[in-house]
Amino acid sequence: MRQSGIALLFLTLLVLVSCDSEQPVLLGDDFSGWTQLNAAPITATIPGHGSSIRNIFVNDVGTGVTTTTSGPRIVWNYPEETVIIKTVAAPGESGYSAETTMLLGMVKNSEHPDSQGGWIWLTRDPRTGEEMIFQSEYCVTCHADANERRTTTDRIPTGVPNPDREFRDFVFFPYFPDE
Ligand code: HEC
Repeated sequence: MRQSGIALLFLTLLVLVSCDSEQPVLLGDDFSGWTQLNAAPITATIPGHGSSIRNIFVNDVGTGVTTTTSGPRIVWNYPEETVIIKTVAAPGESGYSAETTMLLGMVKNSEHPDSQGGWIWLTRDPRTGEEMIFQSEYCVTCHADANERRTTTDRIPTGVPNPDREFRDFVFFPYFPDE
């Protein structure tokens, strides 16, 4: 039952993605010099990822994130051209040294026709370099949870807790300007 659910999810993914080879490359392979946002490799199981190992990096632009208040709520806003990348690797025999099998990216570009919540949502196959922008609401719908109240005991424990329900700009592992 659970397996067929996962198979269905992947099937849905295949149908929902779109690929345009004319697009400029949005994510590269080289994140040296970028800021890592997770303290330790993320291994918690989340839908669609199985038992993968994830790491998250932000480019320099993203470290210029600002916060304002809107009524009682703190609102985070990443600058245009922020890029946040999540690397996904299958667990290898030696644990965390596994090879990256997939990159997921969020690129801040509010004017882009495919942006949702101000971000372009895409994947990149590190072997072929092929990028696919998601035009469906699949990514943004789940990431809206990052903007909701979340504590360490909630069902999806991954991500930094958000006890005051700050609008985190759809980012589960935010860059904290004071760091
Ligand atoms: C079912 C929920 C869910 C869906 C669907 C989802 N994500 Fe995520 N995403 C997460 C969670 C939870 C994290 C926090 C890190 C982790 O656990 O891997 C995350 C982290 C990320 C990050 C790192 C920035 C951050 O928020 O911490 C990027 C980039 C990302 N996802 C891109 C995508 C893209 C692109 C898609 C669509 C192809 C997508 N995600 C679909 C739940 C989801």
